[in-house]
Amino acid sequence: MPRIYVWSPFVRVTHLLIALSIFGALFSGFFKPLFSLHLFFGSLVFVLLIARILYGFFGTTYERFSHFDFSWRDLRYYFLHLFRDKRSYIGHNPAASWVMIFIILGGVAVTLTGLLLLGAMYERGPLDFLGKILYFWGDFLKKAHQLIALAILIASLIHIIGTLIEHFYHRTRIIDSMVHGYKPYEGKDLHPSILQSLFGIGAILLSLTIAFYAANDRSYREFLALHDLYPVEFRRECSSCHTLYPPQWLPSSSWKIIMQDLKGHFGKDAKEYVKHPEIIQTYLLAHSSEHHPSYFPHAITRSNLQSQKYRLSRISFIRELHAKIPPKLFEHPAIKTRSNCQACHLHFDEGILQPEEIRIPDISFREALQIYLR
Ligand code: HEC
Ligand code: HEC
Repeated sequence: MPRIYVWSPFVRVTHLLIALSIFGALFSGFFKPLFSLHLFFGSLVFVLLIARILYGFFGTTYERFSHFDFSWRDLRYYFLHLFRDKRSYIGHNPAASWVMIFIILGGVAVTLTGLLLLGAMYERGPLDFLGKILYFWGDFLKKAHQLIALAILIASLIHIIGTLIEHFYHRTRIIDSMVHGYKPYEGKDLHPSILQSLFGIGAILLSLTIAFYAANDRSYREFLALHDLYPVEFRRECSSCHTLYPPQWLPSSSWKIIMQDLKGHFGKDAKEYVKHPEIIQTYLLAHSSEHHPSYFPHAITRSNLQSQKYRLSRISFIRELHAKIPPKLFEHPAIKTRSNCQACHLHFDEGILQPEEIRIPDISFREALQIYLR
């Protein structure tokens, strides 16, 4: 039986890595504490897709976009004769060509919105400066990111079903071809040049390096030093009974209500601990959520005005973010109350709220999964 070499090692390896990354990123995207993994797969797929697009212009014959079949007539023919004409295509068949280009462009769009979101919402990544400029786009970007991800998931499932039909029903064994690179067809074998091979190796190494870096980047912790910027009165007196609530986590209207009634402070008398209420109040009002042009404080300012609830743990925006967590969990001895943000958000008192810093104390992995999969 004649064989022809159509898929270079670069295309086969990237195909596998892109498929793994897409499913890895989709899975980890549902679980905030798996955020490092999400960044790993997201960065990996981003660099690989860019490399694959470049290869689509400068790569070997069958792998170039010019060899993809984008003709509507061929596509119609392919579907009308799906169960009759069992021909094998050298490169991508018409349906696969369209699905591939959709997944490649969708993949670029989802990773770009992810990068924008990382900057706008968490002030991280190469676009971290966006946090101060596009923070009010956070919700829009999140929706766009999720919708495109869903579209990619659907396209990937269509691609898998199409592949299975081709492989088993048309008996073209295309799954094997993605492993060893050969197709049962007559024609000219593909020969990647040294430059093309070096490009492939370089792109894969670069993508893995960037992915490891993105997953392990904890540069946001540099802000930890912020703790020392708190006035000593606030730091000492307001942490007598609980960990500190950074000023940007409540609007000035809330801070005013809280500071005006220290005697009846949530059922406790805080007055005897707080010796410098004026200094503390001045500081809190000057740094309240309205003064922080970034995603979470901005959402709190907005949310609070709508709901008229002044406590952080009662603000509707914060409640919605914890909708997945069963109320009983907050009664856990290591947590005790919804107000104990610090119990699950390490470094909350220093104003850091990153998904990697979420730890639900004292619960097993199974319990944690149950919470998330509910
Ligand atoms: C006497 C102990 C005590 C002191 C001192 C104290 N607090 Fe509190 N604070 C509490 C208690 C108790 C709660 C209620 C926690 C709960 O409901 O679980 C609370 C709740 C809060 C909340 C609301 C958290 C939520 O549920 O959203 C804020 C904000 C807060 N305190 C700020 C301060 C500030 C600012 C100071 C310093 C001026 C301060 N506290 C000093 C005991 C204290
Ligand atoms: C029982 C542990 C627990 C407590 C207590 C808790 N949180 Fe959370 N919080 C979580 C978990 C888990 C998530 C992630 C939920 C998800 O995956 O959607 C989360 C998510 C968040 C988010 C969204 C983070 C993001 O990356 O989108 C914010 C903001 C937040 N919490 C703020 C607070 C504040 C403020 C408090 C205190 C008033 C608080 N949390 C108390 C467990 C907790």
